Amino acid sequence: TSLESLQFQKRMIESPIGEADRAALVAGGEFGQVFTEHMVTVRWNEQRGWHDGLVEPFGPLRLSPAAAVFHYGQEIFEGMKAFRAADGGINLFRVERNAERFAASARRLAMAEVPAELFRRAVEELVSSDAAWVADHPEGTLYLRPFQIATEPTLGMQPAAAYLFGVIASPVVVNRREAPPMRILISDDHVRAVRGGTGDVKCGGNYAASMPALGRAAEVGCDQVLFLDAAERRFVEELGGMNVFVVYDNGSVCTPPLTGTILPGVTRDSIMRLAADRGARLVERPIEIDELQEAARAGRVTEMFACGTVAVVRGIGSLHGRHGEVVIGDGGTGDLTARLRQELLDIQHGRTPDRHGWISGI
Ligand code: COI
Repeated sequence: TSLESLQFQKRMIESPIGEADRAALVAGGEFGQVFTEHMVTVRWNEQRGWHDGLVEPFGPLRLSPAAAVFHYGQEIFEGMKAFRAADGGINLFRVERNAERFAASARRLAMAEVPAELFRRAVEELVSSDAAWVADHPEGTLYLRPFQIATEPTLGMQPAAAYLFGVIASPVVVNRREAPPMRILISDDHVRAVRGGTGDVKCGGNYAASMPALGRAAEVGCDQVLFLDAAERRFVEELGGMNVFVVYDNGSVCTPPLTGTILPGVTRDSIMRLAADRGARLVERPIEIDELQEAARAGRVTEMFACGTVAVVRGIGSLHGRHGEVVIGDGGTGDLTARLRQELLDIQHGRTPDRHGWISGI
């Protein structure tokens, strides 16, 4: 099937949820617990390429227990959002970046690639089908989770010959007020990614490997974990699902470079541009964990923050390592952190001009 002729067949259901109940579900929910009425699925095999595009009711998938994803982990995903715009429409943010990264993830795991055009169409089909979840709340955002799994029933240890590409959606409200700054545990035993591994693509395995360290952080009263490089345990890489930035008292804003072990975050890239627009001296350079703690103790680190699609931008209040706790700045959310967060949200919701061309309307 050529892509142009791929039509999404629609099996729509009426929402059983009234407007008031929907608003309550959105406002009260923890991240990722509530899903919209529909999902999109598309299948791939060697004979037909991408085919059988469907918008169907959200629900269980039927898969063989031998499906390759259960055994050798060919699974990738994306995280992106649709936003309620100030003019009442719906905005997608930098969807082509997510499409590119999804294809790069597929290549790394030897999976069939979803063309960017199909990726965008699948996302738009779902968002327009379940638009009420974004439209009803002025701060409404719909978190979109494209994913792809190997469905071929085989225990053969080779790239699978059949895949399912799906998109599901989960509503979130991002408060105008920022969340409290995070306490971060420095992970000095577990690492997240190695050179030549999969750290720079978005596959489930990376997140599975991060979980024990996240669990350890929770045990000691921290919100998140900071992973160091695998080779020397010397340089800052990223948190469990967020990139990290450090602001020094000389005005420089630093983030580790993309050397193959760090996820190239779309929010990371956007924040770098917004910080540069403000005249900040942006430096992508290796950040030594010892140097960072020393600088923070000496009062030379004024702010630290993490960023990601789910978290947007969130302040880091303290680092917790083998040698005790180091408070960052005054322990609160820094000024630049708060401003960058607000500016990004304003662009996403169409309250401020989209000078970088990041927004596409639906
Ligand atoms: C995102 O921010 O989209 C992420 O990937 C974080 C997610 C693993 C919760």
